[in-house]
Amino acid sequence: MVTGIARKNIHKGKLMDLTFTAIVPLLLGSLGIFALFRLLQRMRMRAYLQDAVVVITGATSGLGKECAKAFHAAGSRLVLCGRNGERLQDLVQELSAKANQSKNMHKPCTVIFDLSDTKMVVSAAEEILKSVGHVDILINNAGISYRGTILDTGMDVDKKVMETNYFGPIAFTKALLPSMIKRQQGHIVVISSVQGKISIPFRSAYAASKHATQAFFDCLRAEMEQYEINVTVVSPGYIQTNLSVNAVTADGSRYGVMDKNTIEGRTAAEVAQVVLNAVGQKKKEVLVAGLMPSLAVYLRTLSPRLFFTFMASRARKERKAKDS
Ligand SMILES: NC(=O)c1ccc[n+]([C@@H]2O[C@H](COP(=O)([O-])OP(=O)(O)OC[C@H]3O[C@@H](n4cnc5c(N)ncnc54)[C@H](OP(=O)(O)O)[C@@H]3O)[C@@H](O)[C@H]2O)c1
Repeated sequence: MVTGIARKNIHKGKLMDLTFTAIVPLLLGSLGIFALFRLLQRMRMRAYLQDAVVVITGATSGLGKECAKAFHAAGSRLVLCGRNGERLQDLVQELSAKANQSKNMHKPCTVIFDLSDTKMVVSAAEEILKSVGHVDILINNAGISYRGTILDTGMDVDKKVMETNYFGPIAFTKALLPSMIKRQQGHIVVISSVQGKISIPFRSAYAASKHATQAFFDCLRAEMEQYEINVTVVSPGYIQTNLSVNAVTADGSRYGVMDKNTIEGRTAAEVAQVVLNAVGQKKKEVLVAGLMPSLAVYLRTLSPRLFFTFMASRARKERKAKDS
């Protein structure tokens, strides 16, 4: 007769058998498949970025500079764009010093132009195509922020922000697109913002320019699918850069303040890595934000009334803090 304890032991034994014969191999197999998938993904990404001609706007500072470092390390041929030739050359020297140590890295070239001048933008695109032949990946990164009340802000300031953040990047993109279409190959990346998805008070011009950016590049993605041209929109939250310091205010002057939110943001190097991975994996869209901004994006869609109440309260608080 089998006692209760013996029955329990038999049951335990069967369970152990099942663990060793089915569950452990299944777990190990899944881990193996996952590791293989990651390896293949990394190899595909490396092949995509190695020797690719990558154009980066706003490479003199912040996220653009860190993107330059990340794509350079990945073996891409860089075309660094900016307004300040001296700072572009400093970056070229910094990157070239690394290129000398590795045969997989290329010496970058530079193009100087102001994004708010459409004529300059178009001739810069022509200059790039003439000197490097084609563009594989365009990273529309350059941008300017804004601080001010709608009532106090002149139209010239609204236009300046739109010219830099919206009209400049779309003019540059349009000027480079025909050559990508001809090759049936290319990748357009744009650095938007969480503020391309939600609008927060006292940032009207900036949020409007980023909403326009999101809309334009979403349309572009759909229209370019038939030519096999990829479009990636990256929407970061706060990044530790000089964006707030360089922001324009209601009267057109420089804001000149490093905001607390900016100091507490992600590092530019961290976000540049996200951009690199998003491009390498041909992602269509990436939100690089913490829990609260991500929730706010969903709240704007799911419960707009609650979202508007929060924003109105935020506006009241900010105004009170400014007045006190
Ligand atoms: N920092 C953040 O918290 C944050 C969050 C979300 C999204 N972003 C976005 O990230 C991108 C990069 O900004 P960042 O944070 O790195 O700020 P940043 O350090 O101020 O860099 C901005 C870059 O844009 C260039 N630029 C500005 N106006 C230009 C113009 N008219 N023509 C050509 N280049 C111009 C600047 O060139 P100069 O050196 O000549 O001024 C600089 O290289 C922007 O699109 C921004 O909207 C930033």
